[in-house]
Amino acid sequence: MSKRIFERLHCTGLALLLVAGAAAQAAPGATAAPHLETRDGRTALMVDGAPFTMLGVQANNSSNYPEALKKVWPAAHDVHANTVEIPVAWEQIEPVEGRFDFSYVDTLLAQARKNDMHLVLLWFGTWKNTGPSYTPEWVKFDNKRFPRMVARDGKPSYCLSPFGEETLKADRKAFVALMSHLARIDQARHTVLMVQVENEVGTYGLVRDFGAKAQAAFEKDVPAAVLAHQKSPVPLAASGSWRAVYGDYADEYFHAWAIASYIEEVAKAGRAAFDVPLYVNNALRDAVEPLAPWKENFASGGPTYDVIGIYKAAAPHLDIVAPDMYNPASAQFDATLAKFQRPDNALLVPEMSHAPGYARYVWQVLGRGSLGIAPFGIDYTDYTNFPLGTKEKGKPIVEPFAATYALFGSMNRLWSRWAFEGRTHGISEGDDRKDQTLPLGAWTATVSFREWQFGERSWPGHPTEFPAGTEQPNGGVAIAQVGENEFVIVGQHARVRIASTQKQGNGEMFARVEEGHFDAAGKWVMERNWNGDQTDYGLNLTGQPVILKVRMGRY
Ligand code: DGJ
Repeated sequence: MSKRIFERLHCTGLALLLVAGAAAQAAPGATAAPHLETRDGRTALMVDGAPFTMLGVQANNSSNYPEALKKVWPAAHDVHANTVEIPVAWEQIEPVEGRFDFSYVDTLLAQARKNDMHLVLLWFGTWKNTGPSYTPEWVKFDNKRFPRMVARDGKPSYCLSPFGEETLKADRKAFVALMSHLARIDQARHTVLMVQVENEVGTYGLVRDFGAKAQAAFEKDVPAAVLAHQKSPVPLAASGSWRAVYGDYADEYFHAWAIASYIEEVAKAGRAAFDVPLYVNNALRDAVEPLAPWKENFASGGPTYDVIGIYKAAAPHLDIVAPDMYNPASAQFDATLAKFQRPDNALLVPEMSHAPGYARYVWQVLGRGSLGIAPFGIDYTDYTNFPLGTKEKGKPIVEPFAATYALFGSMNRLWSRWAFEGRTHGISEGDDRKDQTLPLGAWTATVSFREWQFGERSWPGHPTEFPAGTEQPNGGVAIAQVGENEFVIVGQHARVRIASTQKQGNGEMFARVEEGHFDAAGKWVMERNWNGDQTDYGLNLTGQPVILKVRMGRY
C-alpha cells in the first residue's frame, strides 16, 4: 500500500515537499531554540520560528549505539518520519563515575543531521519502566549509597528510592553533563527538539517508599502547591497531612509527589544548561473504569491521569505529562487522550504500539492537535515487542503508518498552525464501528465506516458484504476548518458527509471538492475536482490517503 502511495506522491511532487518541509534544520544561529508557545489553552511546538508537528518513530530500547543506528535511519525514512526518539542511557555516558563519554551522542546528532531528522532524547536514568536497569553498575549495586525503596515490612523493592539524596545528586550531575554537552553541539542547530526525563517512572507492587526518610516526609503536611493543583477525588480536609487530605489515595499521591519532586531537581538543573522542552511519559492506568485508590493495578507514583496536578505542582520545569498508548481498545484510547489533553498539559503521544490497528489513531491524535506522535519500536534491528506491538519485522512494520506520515509531512507547517489556532479535529473508527460526528461551526461532519464508495446501505439490494480490508477497524479522519465553509479533509477507510446545522435557504451542497496538495510555500495546488459519483455518496476515503479541499454552499 505505502509504496503505491509514495509513488503517487512522487508524481504530484509531494515527496519533494516532504523532504523540504519535514525536518529542514536551522542554519547556525537562525532562530530561537525549539520551545513551546501557549495561546488560548492550546500549545504549539515552535521549531525555527513556526509551529511544527513531530511525525516520530521511537527506536527500540537497545538501538542507542552507533552500530545499531544504521538500522534506525532507513526505517525512519521509510515511514516518512521527521523525528526519531531514542534513548541516551546513564550507563553509557558515565560508565565510570565522573568520567563522561559522549561519543554516541556526537555520532547520533551528526547522523540525524545527515539524515535530515530531528531528535527527541530519552534520558534513561534512575527510572526506566520503573526499574534502575539503565543506571551504571556503580549505582545499581551500591544499595547503601543509592538506596532502594522499602516496603511496609522492611523488605527492599527493586526500585530506587526517590528519597536517595546521593542518587538524585548523581542522576542530576549526569543529566546536566548531557544537557551541557547538547548546549555545546546543538544550541544553534535545533536537531534536538525535546528531552524526556526518565522513562515510565513509578513502582509496581508497592504503593510508596516506607523507608525512614519517606515516612517522615509522609507525616508532614501536603505542600501548598500540591493543594492548589490537585483536588482529592473524595473531598476530605482542605489541608493537613497526606492522609487527612487524600484519604485512601494518600500513599499513591505522596509517591507521585516524591518522584515528581526528584525529577524536578533533575529537570531544573538540566534545563539551566540547555533549555528545550522537557516531558515525562506514563505507563497508563485504566482511563475508563471509575477512579479508585491504587490496588497494584498500575505503577504507583507514575504520572497517571489522576495525578497530573501533582506533577504540575512539584515539577514546574517539566512541560508535559504524556501518555504511552499500548491499550488497543478504542474506548481506552479516546478516554486517555481526553484526560491528558488539558489547557495546562499539551497533548503529546511519545509512544504508541506499532501494531497495525493503531495506524488509524494517527488521524485522531494529529487531528486533536498533538505536538507529535511516535509508534514505538520502529527500526530494522531484528526485534519486535509483540504482543504489545506488531508480529512483523522489517518493512511491514512501517507500512501501516507511511502514507499517513507522508501526507501530514507534506503540509506539516500548515497543519501545525491550524492546530495551534484550534481549527483541527480528529477521530478514529471505534471498536463498535459506529458513525461518529464532528462539530465544525455551522456544519457537522458525519463519518461512517465500512462503506462501499458508491451507493447507500439503505438501498434495496445494496451489497451486505463489506469492502475488503475493513475486517478490523482501521478508519480515521482529520479535518481542519480553514474558513467558515471551507475544510481540508484527510483520512482513510471512511466516508465523510458534511451537513449544515443551520436551517438557511433550501439546502446545502458541495461547492467544490478539490483533490490536490500544498506546495512548499503552502499554496494549494489543485489536481482534480471531485464530482458526480465521487461526491454523490459522501467523500469516500480509501486506503490511499489524499488531501481534499472542500467548500460547502447553501442554496
Ligand atoms: C514502554 C517503554 O517506555 C519502552 O521503553 C518499551 O519498554 C515499551 N514499553 C515496550 O516495548
